[in-house]
Amino acid sequence: MKTREELIERVAEYKGTDNWKIQPSELSYELWMQLFIDKANREKPYTVDDNNRHVIDALVKYFRRDDEFLKIHESFSFDKGILLRGPVGSGKTRMFKIWRDVLQAWPFGQKIQIVSTSTIVSQYNVDGDLIFTGNNAARKTASSNSTYGNWYLESDTVIDDIGAEPIGGKYQRCDVMETMFLRRYDYDLLTHGTTNLDGDQLLERYGLRVYDRLREMFNTISLTGESRRK
Ligand SMILES: Nc1ncnc2c1ncn2[C@@H]1O[C@H](COP(=O)(O)OP(=O)(O)OP(=O)(O)O)[C@@H](O)[C@H]1O
Ligand SMILES: [Mg+2]
Repeated sequence: MKTREELIERVAEYKGTDNWKIQPSELSYELWMQLFIDKANREKPYTVDDNNRHVIDALVKYFRRDDEFLKIHESFSFDKGILLRGPVGSGKTRMFKIWRDVLQAWPFGQKIQIVSTSTIVSQYNVDGDLIFTGNNAARKTASSNSTYGNWYLESDTVIDDIGAEPIGGKYQRCDVMETMFLRRYDYDLLTHGTTNLDGDQLLERYGLRVYDRLREMFNTISLTGESRRK
């Protein structure tokens, strides 16, 4: 396990080579926690309390590939993404934004994109089925939102507000999110998400075929408590 100083030396030595990136488990739990807390408080204060402490702990273990993560629940796996479930305002989106910033920064350089279901549905209404296609020519002609890149077929994407999307669109041909989930499952793309819905509500919203796959795609972790919006 390396200290922050050792990591800085290692990165300086290997910078510019293919070898400079740090393996997640090379950082201690404490250093991961420090990176998270630093990023969390960068713009405005971030409270750690009984409603989110267990989630931060689980995600530190998940992202540093610590076997302790697998002991939290028998269904947990590193092959699955993270689904953050919780009431409105409990801090799900902010949690992923902090993790995105942590993983994107030194010493990881890993890209995670966050895209909301309402953005996906809006984009479907402009581009139609092109948003699901793996065909590069079609992707170029699609008016893809450059802020998010080609999130629809990229791994490591957080789908924000699952279940809160407007149903149907201009085309009314398919349920956009159902198709999105089936496609991401088929392509084995690591997907994270946030939702206000519990398991029964997800089943009701997306049907058994999709719900069954969602269970295989996600480690589900719950945030609790009143809304943190002021
Ligand atoms: N731990 C925290 N400490 C202080 N403020 C927080 C914390 N977590 C989130 N907030 C703030 O609470 C508000 C709601 O957070 P966020 O948008 O992440 O909630 P959410 O769970 O995604 O809600 P929704 O279900 O409506 O999408 C934001 O203003 C956010 O900055
Ligand atoms: Mg949110």
